[in-house]
Amino acid sequence: MSLPARPRTFSGIKPTGVAHLGNYLGAMKRWVDEQDEYDNIYCVVDLHGMTEPFDPAELRRETRGMFATLLAVGLDPDRCVLFAQSHVHEHAELCWILNCITPVGWLERMTQFKDKSRKQSDRERISAGLLDYPVLMAADIILYDAHVVPVGEDQKQHVELTRDIAARFNRVFGDTFVVPEPRIQEAGARIMGLDDPTRKMSKSDDAPNRSIFITDEPDAIRRKIARAATDSRREIRFDPERAGLFNLLTILQVITNDSNDAIERRYEGKGYGDLKRDLADAVVAHLAPIQERYRSLMANPDDLDREMARGAERAAAIARPVMARVRKAVGLA
Ligand code: TYM
Repeated sequence: MSLPARPRTFSGIKPTGVAHLGNYLGAMKRWVDEQDEYDNIYCVVDLHGMTEPFDPAELRRETRGMFATLLAVGLDPDRCVLFAQSHVHEHAELCWILNCITPVGWLERMTQFKDKSRKQSDRERISAGLLDYPVLMAADIILYDAHVVPVGEDQKQHVELTRDIAARFNRVFGDTFVVPEPRIQEAGARIMGLDDPTRKMSKSDDAPNRSIFITDEPDAIRRKIARAATDSRREIRFDPERAGLFNLLTILQVITNDSNDAIERRYEGKGYGDLKRDLADAVVAHLAPIQERYRSLMANPDDLDREMARGAERAAAIARPVMARVRKAVGLA
């Protein structure tokens, strides 16, 4: 195997819906902050966007929108490879081969599958793609010899499954894949819903005050933060037991990069009103330049499509030799 000089990072995001503060603080912001430390590959996983009912025109629009979001938050396509998953056919091909060595029991045990399939009362409406979702994710990662997979807490189990699949393949067919590691940051790895800190912030929820979206107007951001659930105690401290407050403080900490101590000192003798006002100001100010870049990128769809095509060519140049190695290992070449 010929491996890249710097450790390689791979991560992805589904195009479905608009990115929220959880996606941003748990994953994207860190991808941007660490751009020069790793050899980075980032992907809009449009094939994963098909595992639940979807509309083709919307999928096309959202894939471009998520690509623009990744550029707008600060990923630089000259310092990383940025592309859409379906543009590199090797993802689907490798997924099939991995399917043939992955026990169904491993997939049925995945928490995300259990949660999503439990929500769907009619079993006939759960697609095989939903069950297979983590195998495609494993293919995404190992197709690029990635060492490190920076994700939020909710994707840890999928990355661990990827390790199991890669290790099993290496055992059965000989050393072929790098076995990757999940990397989950301490703060921000699990941003919770503002209205209900027992539920994670998510794209798919229709609770209107749960998530702050990257494209939310300042008024909407202020309203959601003002209504955020807290408790009846007074002092402002990073205490995981006080989930609502802890979540607000975590968002402030990751956005400002201030230490926990400094933040606690700032709010000595102050109340939730002060904290919420400052947090809303910080989020609005942080998102403003991102929103401006997003709008200008979306106004030039041809440029976005050109950038996506360039990313796909660069990704395919890395994926092709790995796929050739796999075909040889399994007897297809
Ligand atoms: P997705 O699209 O659900 O989320 C993208 C990233 O955002 C993180 N995230 C969060 N972090 C903190 N708090 C939250 N509330 C929160 N919600 C989401 C996710 O952990 C993720 O890092 N299966 C993946 C996409 C994927 C992928 C891959 C990731 C496909 N192939 C290969 C890594 C490597 C997903 O659905 O992410």
